Amino acid sequence: MLRKILIGTMLLLVLATGGFFAWFGLVLPTDMPIPKAQAVATPEALARGEYLARHVTVCMDCHSTRDWNRFSGPIVPGTLGKGGERFDEKIGLPGVIISKNITPAALGNWSDGEILRAMAGGISKDGHALFPLMPYDAYRFMDESDALAIIAYVRSIPAVDNQVPRHQLDFPLNLIVNAIPKPPAFKQIDRSNTVEYGRYLATLGGCTWCHTPVNAQSRSIPEMALAGGQAFPMQGGTVRSANISPDPDTGIGRWSRADFIARFRAYQGPEAEKLPLGADGFNTQMSWTQFAGMTDEDLGAIYAFLMQSKPISNRITVWELAAAADNTR
Ligand code: HEC
Ligand code: HEC
Repeated sequence: MLRKILIGTMLLLVLATGGFFAWFGLVLPTDMPIPKAQAVATPEALARGEYLARHVTVCMDCHSTRDWNRFSGPIVPGTLGKGGERFDEKIGLPGVIISKNITPAALGNWSDGEILRAMAGGISKDGHALFPLMPYDAYRFMDESDALAIIAYVRSIPAVDNQVPRHQLDFPLNLIVNAIPKPPAFKQIDRSNTVEYGRYLATLGGCTWCHTPVNAQSRSIPEMALAGGQAFPMQGGTVRSANISPDPDTGIGRWSRADFIARFRAYQGPEAEKLPLGADGFNTQMSWTQFAGMTDEDLGAIYAFLMQSKPISNRITVWELAAAADNTR
């Protein structure tokens, strides 16, 4: 998928944090040790890993081909993990970044530690820094057992041959990117603390990121957390993330836990993957069909986290036709 707007944020982040070092010529490829790790493919780990990669972290969102002629862009069968999603100057990026093949055809000769370092530390096998469009900054704080379960699962998916070239970043980004990766800082998650567990899932799933508006420099506005309004240009129009703060009138404040879960369940199952676009070509970047596979416990935890966040009044028009959207830009 194209999380186009992410890129603007990242570039700014990159420039803000990396710029200083770049001036002093200190930006050298990061020398991050390969963590000691073993992803043991027990049935439990495989199930947990599949669950997370398909329905929570939605790795496969970015690392598979999506069918944007259908609502919410379901994954094209047979493309799981093959990579190839391209992000380039068309969306304002100084360079070309392509999501990598993460099937065993590409990762077969990587150690578990090398995959872990890429996923949660941002360093590829050959030592080059990955661009943070790959959300390694969010995955840094994963529960280590969750990260290892994802690795076990990714190793188990069918191998698909697909050569993906390395990213091409223009100067000075090609140097600055080296200042971004930080070693993993795994945290243990206490699932009995529902709100904290919900916050954890909402971070891994990108809910918080997408549903928080950004300023003119494409950076999240913290005082507007979860109030929606971030714009994603799509074919035929622009979709804006909904207000999912607990504001009763413009957010989801009147939704019960059951309403919230039911909204996701409506997109579960093979029929939901065939839904046509909505009225006026309405389509969305929200991966309903993938998130719909989350358990009641996990959706409930996200709901609990959202409900205790600050209610913010912010009315959102979620779909705007291309012509209208162009006029307002
Ligand atoms: C928002 C989109 C997105 C999501 C979600 C995402 N990735 Fe990525 N991933 C990318 C992109 C883009 C790259 C290539 C970055 C680059 O080349 O600088 C990448 C690179 C990688 C790499 C490095 C491969 C290599 O050859 O260097 C691995 C491993 C990886 N991703 C695994 C995962 C896993 C596992 C998940 C889920 C836990 C995940 N990704 C979620 C976009 C994403
Ligand atoms: C890639 C960006 C993106 C991500 C990630 C994302 N959303 Fe969304 N979400 C949207 C957009 C855009 C809409 C509005 C269009 C639609 O309804 O699909 C939306 C709509 C919603 C709605 C409907 C609200 C209403 O008033 O009808 C809910 C609820 C929601 N998202 C919750 C979540 C949760 C929970 C997560 C994380 C598991 C999440 N979103 C992740 C972009 C995103």
